[in-house]
Amino acid sequence: EKGGYEHFMLKEIHEQPKAVRDTVMPRIAKDNLSVILNELKWNKEYLDSFHKIFIVACGTAYHAGLVGKYYIEKLARIPVEVDIASEFRYRSPIIDEHTLVIVISQSGETIDTLAALKETKRLGAKTLAITNVVGSSIARDADEVIYTWAGPEIAVASTKAYTTQLVTVFLLAMYMAGIKKCISPERTKQLLTQLRKLPDQIDRTLEDPEPIKTFAKKYGFNEDVFFIGRSLDYDVALEGALKLKEISYIHAEAYAAGELKHGTLALIIEGVPVIALATQKSVYEKTISNIKEIKARDAIVIGITSESNDTLVKCVDHVIKVPNTDELLIPLLTVVPLQLLAYYAAITRGCDVDKPRNLAKSVTVE
Ligand code: M6R
Repeated sequence: EKGGYEHFMLKEIHEQPKAVRDTVMPRIAKDNLSVILNELKWNKEYLDSFHKIFIVACGTAYHAGLVGKYYIEKLARIPVEVDIASEFRYRSPIIDEHTLVIVISQSGETIDTLAALKETKRLGAKTLAITNVVGSSIARDADEVIYTWAGPEIAVASTKAYTTQLVTVFLLAMYMAGIKKCISPERTKQLLTQLRKLPDQIDRTLEDPEPIKTFAKKYGFNEDVFFIGRSLDYDVALEGALKLKEISYIHAEAYAAGELKHGTLALIIEGVPVIALATQKSVYEKTISNIKEIKARDAIVIGITSESNDTLVKCVDHVIKVPNTDELLIPLLTVVPLQLLAYYAAITRGCDVDKPRNLAKSVTVE
């Protein structure tokens, strides 16, 4: 049942091209000029009735929500707030019928997410679930559902659920932007053409895990690992750090690169591995200056960027490159080496990859 892989996690990492393909392909119009979300029957009036969107989720799904905020705000120009479900429930958020609440959950059974959904419905918000499990509690309770078609995810560490959640929030943002007519046909075509290429590009990022295995062996016994990035790269850094701590038990922290100076830089000393994501043009130079500050303290920097980038190599110790795509979609590619790094670090340390200590696949009790 592990399809020849040693662990479910590795199998699921390798299933990502198919999972992403199944989730996006039926939802892109043939001419690449629009997104088809037959599950939603929205029009401009309905969308305009929302003054605000909340995205509520836990763990990896919360990290997908952060990317969702970026996509919806950038493409559809609607304000979005992202909340951890267990916090959201207890902080009396301001919600009414002009609020759309999007919950994201692989299992559709996470208790905090489910409770947040019920509470927001009670307060009169419209609710939309993004989930992977047909007929799950969250799918049944939400007003509307968009399914991710990742197939069953068995490993505790979420991988293909995350990437399918990312493409789903992307499709949703494009759908909203289309309704609001705040994206040009040219830009739509450009993005959807890139989106179609993603499954094959994810495949390519999986082709040669050797450099990542080497890093895992080399740094697998370090006590701390830091992940840094800005903008979308920061969101992916958060997911990379969660993956690493969850299955390899290495202390990992993700920081918005610009925040380092406000405290964490004190922990950056000789030999500490720092994974630096640098893919976003608008903040690229800023990230580079943060990397220089880190290198000045003799930390080891592993940079992650796109194939066409030839400048990062000059200021880091190692570079991992992913195929070129639009910078909005690159999180789908940069997360893959981070998943593999967590996997091989866990193997190096002899951890139980699919069933990490103290954790359950689905958190149905508070
Ligand atoms: O089933 P859900 O997506 O609601 O689960 C949310 C989190 O429990 C889950 O993503 C968790 O953080 C993963 N183990 C992370 O790999």
